[in-house]
Amino acid sequence: MDYQDIAADLESVLITEDEIHAKIAELARRIETDYAGEKLLLVGVLKGAVMVMADLARELHLPIEMDWMAVSSYGSGTQSSGVVRILKDLDSDLHGRKVLIVEDIIDSGLTLSWLRGNLESRGAESVEICALLRKPDAAKVIVDVKYEGFQIPNAFVVGYGLDYAEKYRNFRDIGVLAPHVYA
Ligand code: XMP
Ligand code: MG
Repeated sequence: MDYQDIAADLESVLITEDEIHAKIAELARRIETDYAGEKLLLVGVLKGAVMVMADLARELHLPIEMDWMAVSSYGSGTQSSGVVRILKDLDSDLHGRKVLIVEDIIDSGLTLSWLRGNLESRGAESVEICALLRKPDAAKVIVDVKYEGFQIPNAFVVGYGLDYAEKYRNFRDIGVLAPHVYA
């Protein structure tokens, strides 16, 4: 698939690359203030959060460490089940650590609310969440997101790490997938 063809699969561009970077810089300034003098552990949720993690981490003027988890909360469909399976666990010991979960998108909130509880139970001193996108209309549980980028409508979005069937992750903007793609 040609990069140009990706745009043809989108109904609209929702958030441009420039808007994403401006927002990440804004969030980074707040995080720097809140964690000044601390050693922060960023926990990225694979695979969707790779782009947010790469840009946020480089934007932060703080000594950080990075670790990664892969979880799956989906059965066969596209609906979150709330039953979360760890596909790849952290390498780090969380005892006494200040943890910031870095996530691409919060949909039902079930994955993140489970993940926060799981990391807290490992002895982290604090666990906060940074999510680039949130769909308020899709929420099934309330998740306290300290650093939130954009609230978006309840549509399926791709790009900037977000995929449909593993495609579109390298599209630089975030767009709404056109129905003809999954119809
Ligand atoms: P929950 O519902 O538990 O799920 O908050 C969050 C995870 O679901 C995926 N997700 C999406 N992925 N476009 C995507 O590419 C979307 O619009 C979308 N909505 C949810 C994503 O993996 C996220 O971590
Ligand atoms: Mg994800």
